[in-house]
Amino acid sequence: MKIVIVGGTGDLSRRMLLPALYFLDADGLLGPEVEVIGLSRQVLDRDGFRDMAHAALKERGGEHFDEAVWKRFSERIDYIPADLAHVQGAEALKARIGGAETIFYLSVSPSLFDGICVSLKAAGLTEAPNRIVLEKPIGRDGPSSAAINGAVAQAFAEDRTYRIDHYLGKETVQNLIALRFANALFEPLWTGRSIDHVQITVAETEGVGDRWPYYNDYGALRDMLQNHMLQLLCLVAMEPPASLDPDSVRNEKVKILRSLRPIGPGEVAQLSVRGQYRAGVAAGKASGAYVEECGRPTDTETYVALCAHIDNWRWAGVPFFMRTGKRMVEKRTQIVIQFKPVPHSIFPGAGGGDVLANKLVIDLQPDEDISLLLMNKTPGLDRDGFRLSPLPLSLSLATAFGGGRRRIAYERLLLDVIHNNSTLFVRRDEVEASWAWIDGIRAAWADAAVTCRPYDAGSWGPVAAYNMIAQLGRSWNE
Ligand code: BG6
Repeated sequence: MKIVIVGGTGDLSRRMLLPALYFLDADGLLGPEVEVIGLSRQVLDRDGFRDMAHAALKERGGEHFDEAVWKRFSERIDYIPADLAHVQGAEALKARIGGAETIFYLSVSPSLFDGICVSLKAAGLTEAPNRIVLEKPIGRDGPSSAAINGAVAQAFAEDRTYRIDHYLGKETVQNLIALRFANALFEPLWTGRSIDHVQITVAETEGVGDRWPYYNDYGALRDMLQNHMLQLLCLVAMEPPASLDPDSVRNEKVKILRSLRPIGPGEVAQLSVRGQYRAGVAAGKASGAYVEECGRPTDTETYVALCAHIDNWRWAGVPFFMRTGKRMVEKRTQIVIQFKPVPHSIFPGAGGGDVLANKLVIDLQPDEDISLLLMNKTPGLDRDGFRLSPLPLSLSLATAFGGGRRRIAYERLLLDVIHNNSTLFVRRDEVEASWAWIDGIRAAWADAAVTCRPYDAGSWGPVAAYNMIAQLGRSWNE
């Protein structure tokens, strides 16, 4: 089997794809027949590409890099300088790979997907069992995404098209599936009867830096919310699938995406906030404003907060708050399931204050923890009755399973592509349903002239996001 990384010398290939394949090899998960072929327009020979890969793996692998594994892995590596935008490039590739089963990983700009698919098809490289892997962003709105998907579909059948969302390769994101569907405990409570609201936070400390030419055209809504965050929301909200097979899971996810209530111009200002970082201190360092990184005035949002509703029986009346931002105070990816308070407290005046409602907190990054906040009696003798205090019942995944190396999300995903398992990949109708909802929000922002609120680098985002959630009767979990 051949794995062709188109864009093989690029950043993603060096930071994620080659390291992920290297670690699969280290763990004995790559069969002896697997060859990894870097392809790009850059004029380079096999040794030059291997040297580049060696340096990248040493840097990424750190203490986990092993020269003995590298020696084995390097034997699998080859390089072809070619331009797949032209059929001659695809012919040159074909001359190298012959009729072997091949995975094409497109780690290049989506504007090239169409031309590459046309060339691969003309060279006769798109028949089964060959498959294609597409990196995000797949379009920048519904129509452009449909155009890309349509062009890819001319060359590769849907069941051989793997759209990556690297969040689905994260261990703790898959653990969400286990938490919900391998524990009978939660299911009866997993509805609007017991749950008050859900919060999903993806906060990053990094800024946009030199990625601004891409980012400025996208903004946080399209860069993070349309894909990663909506995928998290789907896993929290979907009905139990009949099995883990790809269509069972994806059928349930797409139902959620199609049940998202559109946010129109009339309510967009109450239900969303756009923000952009200005100068501040982030992660202990003075940090410039986004507009300085961009070198031009711009209204692109580097922060977004939203209140979504899912119009179905299970979630009627339950707000799903989502927020994501660059240059925030800390890196945190977290899902909070906030349960309703007890219907009637029998602890009036209990010294511990109010009886707090339970909450289930799922931390995905930087630490992988699950904790359930429970009310407890504080030990002691109190004349006035019980004293109560909230205590977390905590499960640290690092402690339970040992620290070890944290896997790169791409390891899981590449292994699944090799084994033809698309459960953790995004189907075309999911991409289109999520764009439909996101496009509606963008149109509403334009209609209602919703502009970015400034926030200090190194903060939790604009004040307006606190006002938004407060007006909806809740507060952010910080
Ligand atoms: C990418 C976005 O898809 O995800 C980036 O384009 C973002 O802007 C990144 O920084 C976040 O991924 P992670 O795995 O670091 O949470």
